[in-house]
This record gives sequence, C-alpha cells and structure tokens, in this order.
Amino acid sequence: MKISSAAVAIVAVVASSLSSSAYGFAPASSSASRSVNLSPRSSSSRQSSRHATTMTTTLRMSASSFNVGIVGATGAVGKEIVGVLEKRSFPVGALRIFGSERSAGKEVDTKFGRVTVELFSESSARECDVVFLAVDGDFSLKHAEAICEGNDGAVVIDNSSAFRYKEGIPLVVPEINSDATKGKKLIANPNCTTAIGLMAIWPLHKLFGLKKMVMSTYQAASGAGQPGMDELMEGTRSVLSGEREVAENKIFAHPLPFNVIPHIDKFQENGYTKEEMKVTWETRKICGLPDDFPVSCTAVRIPTSRAHSESIVAIFDKPVDVALARKALEEAPGVKLVDDIANLKYPMPLTATGQYDVEVGRLRKNIAFDNALEFFVVGDQLLRGAALNAVVVAEKMVENGALKAKAVV
Ligand SMILES: NC(=O)c1ccc[n+]([C@@H]2O[C@H](COP(=O)([O-])OP(=O)(O)OC[C@H]3O[C@@H](n4cnc5c(N)ncnc54)[C@H](OP(=O)(O)O)[C@@H]3O)[C@@H](O)[C@H]2O)c1
Repeated sequence: MKISSAAVAIVAVVASSLSSSAYGFAPASSSASRSVNLSPRSSSSRQSSRHATTMTTTLRMSASSFNVGIVGATGAVGKEIVGVLEKRSFPVGALRIFGSERSAGKEVDTKFGRVTVELFSESSARECDVVFLAVDGDFSLKHAEAICEGNDGAVVIDNSSAFRYKEGIPLVVPEINSDATKGKKLIANPNCTTAIGLMAIWPLHKLFGLKKMVMSTYQAASGAGQPGMDELMEGTRSVLSGEREVAENKIFAHPLPFNVIPHIDKFQENGYTKEEMKVTWETRKICGLPDDFPVSCTAVRIPTSRAHSESIVAIFDKPVDVALARKALEEAPGVKLVDDIANLKYPMPLTATGQYDVEVGRLRKNIAFDNALEFFVVGDQLLRGAALNAVVVAEKMVENGALKAKAVV
C-alpha cells in the first residue's frame, strides 16, 4: 500500500493532537515532522472578539485537523495568511509553505513550527487538504485547477483575480455569501477594495435596498505587495535623507512618496482602470445584483503603508434613516462603527491597520441625492481584503462540509 508524505504528516499530527490538543493545533514534537519548532511567533495585530467567537464555534464543530498549504507565504498576503491561521487557531495539522526558487529552502518560524519553504509543484500542493494561493493571477490560472482536480485534489482558495469572474466559481465574502462555497473546491477571494467596502454596504443594502454606488478610494502602497511597500519606504527615505529630490519608481507608474496617483492597474477601453472595474464586477457577483447594476469607482494610490480607505456614496431604493443605519453597522459582523466626530473619532489607516474589523464612520445623509448615505470605510486590505477573508472562507467550508481532512490511506 502506498502511503503519501501528506498522509504521514497527517498521521503524525493527528497522533500528537490526540495527546496534546483537542483540535490538533499543537505542533508535533517528533523529529519525523518537518515543522517542529515549538516557539510561537509573537502576535502584533489586534483582533475582534466577535471573530474569535466565530472560530471557537467552528473548532467545536470540527474534530479534524487539516494539512494546510500556502503558496507565496513570503509575500505580503501569504505572510498574513500564516498569521491569521495562527491567531484564529485554525486546526492546522501540518503547514506546508511553497515558493519559487527565490525562497525555496528558506525557513519560516510559525506557531505550527519551523517550516522550510518547498519549491512549488502541483503534485505536492495536491497532497494538502486546503491550499491558499497568494501569488499572481498567471500562476493561479496555470496551477489552481490542477491542484484541486479530482477527489484527491485539495480545496484551493485563490487570492488573485484569475477566477473571480468565471461562472460556477464562487467569489466569496463569507459574511455575505459563504453558502456559495458548498460542494466547491476552487474559491476566489475578492479584490481587497471590494471586500472592504462591501462589509459596510451589505448591512445597509439589507435595510434600504442598494440602487447605485459611487466609491472613491485612497489605497495603500502594500496593495502592490511587498515590492510596493518597499518602494514607498525606500523612496521616502531617499527624499528625507536628501539623497534624491524625487523618489525613484519601478512598481508604481509615478513616484509615490509625497504624491497621490489616480491610476491602479491597467486602463480599460471605457476610461476606468481594471481596479475600478473590479469593484463594479465583484460587487454585482458577491451581492447577487444584476449584471448592469450601477457601481462606479475612482481608485487612487496614496503614500500610506497599509489599509485602504474608501469614501462611499450609496443611493438606496428606500428613504434612509441614519440612526437605523448606525445600528445595523454596529451589529454587523466584521464591522466596527467609529463615528464620534465630537471626539475626533473616525476611520483611519493608522487605527484600522492590523484589525480584523473594517472601520466605518463619517456616516451622514448625502445632500446631493435622494435616499443616499455617505460614509468613510477603512480596512486592512491584507487582512479583510485577503488573508482574513480567505481563512474565514476555509472556516466556513469546514462548517458546511466542503473542506474535509482527507482520509489516511
Ligand atoms: N497586496 C494586497 O493588498 C493584496 C490584496 C488582495 C489580493 N492580493 C493578491 O494576492 C496575490 C499575492 O499578492 P502579494 O501582494 O502578497 O504579492 P507579493 O508580496 O509580491 O508576493 C508574491 C508571492 O508569490 C510567490 N511566488 C511568485 N512566483 C512564484 C512561483 N513561480 N512559485 C511559487 N511562488 C511564487 C513569491 O514567493 P518567492 O519569494 O518564492 O518568489 C511571493 O511569496 C496577488 O494575486 C494579489 O493580486 C493582494
């Protein structure tokens, strides 16, 4: 009988979990396991108790631990996926990290032990129960379907835009449409800007019925990944040190330090950018709205490091009531109402960074349109817009049975 390395890993971890943890969360201490450093990584980000409660429920429902793979864990999103799995105590049996030649062989310290980055191959990724893809769209187009194909493939949760608009592939913000994951093996995680905005829009849509939406964004450098963040930091340093008058740019179309750039992703024939059209296309798909539903966005890059901000004008079918809207936002999972202008409290990237909840504030009746609300939303795009969303999708799939630990052969 052939026993795969994944099966060996699962056996080792399940055995260790039986003795040390009800949910298979404690790392194995056997030298046979490749991820056996027991020192937990320190946690810097804050998280909401509402999410922690959700995960406790999930864990109680799940007797299994999972063989989890991450492709791109050295990048901006992938690093956060490791952190979210750790902080939410996702029942990781064995963690496997895959990268390119650039990072293969490097070691990554995680709460699940020290993991050596493996050179990616479809066959290794298929051995996992669930694989988070945090690489670009071309990579996902090439490999995602092959990783999840057949009964013995892995569930794939893809952070790129490769499959977001493909019929039959769910595009999921779990607080809105997690049911769409039932019976599926390939799930698309939404564009970060869309995911953040919809956390505020969805409870208001349920209350008043969304008719149109206009969004203007203020997006952080890390939206362009680790290289984008590095370019902002290095460019700012070079200007402040007097080394250069204007920073160099390779990642962004223009120097970002001390500038704003009204251009993210490629320009389309209609004059919008692809980033802007993603907000339109993805709002329609996630919220189950018609294909011609009117959503317009202007996406702007600003020289902040992390967390995207959005000014939203939402026009509704029904007359709006600010007090009711406020209550709905206060009660919405994944949302934190930060709206106390007397005390200068409103959403900002500095306060939203590292938070699981999206901050919503500056809530007011818009004076230019009937039945319209205007508000400001800030969310950590690496968390709600990527890593957190992906891990909560996996949690929901454990709950609804779409994600199961593979049987040991
Ligand atoms: N940044 C954001 O705010 C954000 C938000 C939502 C979604 N996304 C999406 O998430 C994905 C990742 O974005 P990111 O910002 O994290 O990018 P990033 O910081 O540039 O990281 C890219 C990762 O991909 C890995 N990689 C590249 N080529 C590979 C290959 N051939 N085989 C295996 N691994 C490979 C890199 O690993 P090596 O070092 O080994 O090359 C690196 O870990 C993208 O599709 C992006 O559009 C990003």
